[in-house]
Amino acid sequence: MANRIILEEKPNKTVFREGDVIIKEFVPGHPKEHVFNEAYIHSCVEASGLSIPKIRSVVPSNGGWALTIEYIEGKTLDRLMQESPQMCEAYLERLVDIQLEVGGYQVLQLRNTISKMDQVIKSVEGIDAATRYELLQRLHGMKRHTRLCHGDFVPSNVILRDDGSYCVLDWAHATSGNAGADAAITYMRFSLDQPEYAEEYLRIFCERSGMSVRYVQKWLPIVAAAQLAKKNPSEKELLTQWISVVEYQ
Ligand SMILES: Nc1ncnc2c1ncn2[C@@H]1O[C@H](COP(=O)(O)OP(=O)(O)OP(=O)(O)O)[C@@H](O)[C@H]1O
Ligand SMILES: [Mg+2]
Repeated sequence: MANRIILEEKPNKTVFREGDVIIKEFVPGHPKEHVFNEAYIHSCVEASGLSIPKIRSVVPSNGGWALTIEYIEGKTLDRLMQESPQMCEAYLERLVDIQLEVGGYQVLQLRNTISKMDQVIKSVEGIDAATRYELLQRLHGMKRHTRLCHGDFVPSNVILRDDGSYCVLDWAHATSGNAGADAAITYMRFSLDQPEYAEEYLRIFCERSGMSVRYVQKWLPIVAAAQLAKKNPSEKELLTQWISVVEYQ
């Protein structure tokens, strides 16, 4: 058996490499339908022709379920940014260019962004009825689009190969819908995890996409409410602050 190298450990899953595959192993009890749904979403995006790793199988593993995915040789943008901080602006530009390329695809089998957010906002705990109403009003006031949205487009989910080509990982949260929502999610993830890059990311995204900063910001209370559903205590303060903007804007 090939050596197992652990790449990431989270409460609900472990990601490791074994030879030429990545194994994403979920803990026993993690809903089977979530694992099979991730495999389905991944397969649909794979069929679109976008550069993503091939999914190989869904297998029972250690009492739970695991996805096996082709291993991609290269470095994540996250690692490249850590190794060469002086190159960060160029890497942020690359991140945006790839995000815009992703948004040029259509994968119509995926759930629409607005329908998914509607379901999450209706069930998220910790917001009052008036705020929930305002959030849903705002969400349903957005025009429906059908662009491929990754849903967690962050530097650790993009691999650059030595020849400069890219590959996008981690398709669990993908939807068909609004690129503005996808940019708002990326901006939110930067603000939570690497705030020093958040404003520059937004500036570059808006410059290159032609989208207004105002439009991306309109999505912020909505994506913040959806993120609140993940119940990460360290994120609660910032997310609650962003959600409250919906009341007076
Ligand atoms: N196919 C792959 N080829 C090479 N490296 C990979 C591959 N898939 C994952 N990795 C590495 O493992 C890390 C974690 O994998 P992944 O992004 O799929 O899981 P995750 O971030 O824990 O998922 P989620 O964001 O859904 O919680 C990546 O950042 C990357 O470094
Ligand atoms: Mg990831």
